[in-house]
Amino acid sequence: MQIEKATVKTHDLVGGDYRELVLTAPVTAKAAVPGQFVHLRVPRLDGSVLRRPFSIYRARDDRLSILYKTVGRGTRAMETIAVGDTVDMIGPLGNGFPLDAMGENPALVAGGYGVAPLSFLAGEVDVRGTVFIGGATARDILCVGDFESLGWTVRITTEDGSLGEKGLVTAALDAWVATQQGTPPVYYACGPDGMLRAVGQRAVAAGHTAWLSLDKHMGCGVGACLACVQKIRGADGSVAWKRVCKDGPIFEASVIEWDA
Ligand SMILES: Cc1cc2nc3c(=O)[nH]c(=O)nc-3n(C[C@H](O)[C@H](O)[C@H](O)COP(=O)(O)OP(=O)(O)OC[C@H]3O[C@@H](n4cnc5c(N)ncnc54)[C@H](O)[C@@H]3O)c2cc1C
Ligand code: FES
Repeated sequence: MQIEKATVKTHDLVGGDYRELVLTAPVTAKAAVPGQFVHLRVPRLDGSVLRRPFSIYRARDDRLSILYKTVGRGTRAMETIAVGDTVDMIGPLGNGFPLDAMGENPALVAGGYGVAPLSFLAGEVDVRGTVFIGGATARDILCVGDFESLGWTVRITTEDGSLGEKGLVTAALDAWVATQQGTPPVYYACGPDGMLRAVGQRAVAAGHTAWLSLDKHMGCGVGACLACVQKIRGADGSVAWKRVCKDGPIFEASVIEWDA
């Protein structure tokens, strides 16, 4: 982990409110593994010193990219980043997904921008499986071609039915799980809190393994401020606060103590 001054190579709208920011960042790109994130200082964001965390979407050679959705002040300011700009970035941060725990029947479950680290993951493993991509509307469904070109089976759901099956991604997951015989699925999920809880609860109830990438508001991003803590159960059953930025963001579902 280090601070790197990255240079903006391209910055394009890729659909809906989502943009891909491609950076030349050789040190971070070489060290990155799927599930890790970078902490960006947003240029021209007056009065704010806080960085913003984004999952690494692609990392190859000297290039790294993120896929972000505009939701507030920081991401709105990010829209003005231009090709050739320098972006101050700390990374790669966090633990990353366990690549050797996938088994033979993986199920990736993505909500909105949660598809970014799962696309990176899908290209870094030899096994192929099923990807569930969910969003509110068709505008929230991204990266389908990434997975298909790698040989993954893609199932799309939208809440308004504008693309794929109508409903929640967990309904499509339930229907698929009911057809699975033999090798139990192992889940890798990234998306909104509610989706992660639902996937985690299903996995725990069925005795399956689920690796969840938690999405917490962050301050420092490097383990110093405790803004991002989550209750996690240890092997002896005791519960302790863990830092999502440093000890996570990925935790196995059975150790997560969700807030009421
Ligand atoms: C490990 C990690 C990886 C992430 N990866 C991505 C990514 O790949 N692409 C992407 O678009 N976003 C990602 N995020 C979320 C992203 O960091 C926030 O959307 C961003 O910080 C919002 O900044 P803002 O100033 O635009 O919004 P703010 O003005 O700070 O907030 C606007 C709205 O977004 C909500 N919000 C802010 N931060 C988060 C958050 N962490 N999770 C959920 N809601 C939030 C606020 O509650 C508020 O409703 C990630 C977050 C974490 C913790
Ligand atoms: S964001 Fe500061 S400890 Fe995690």
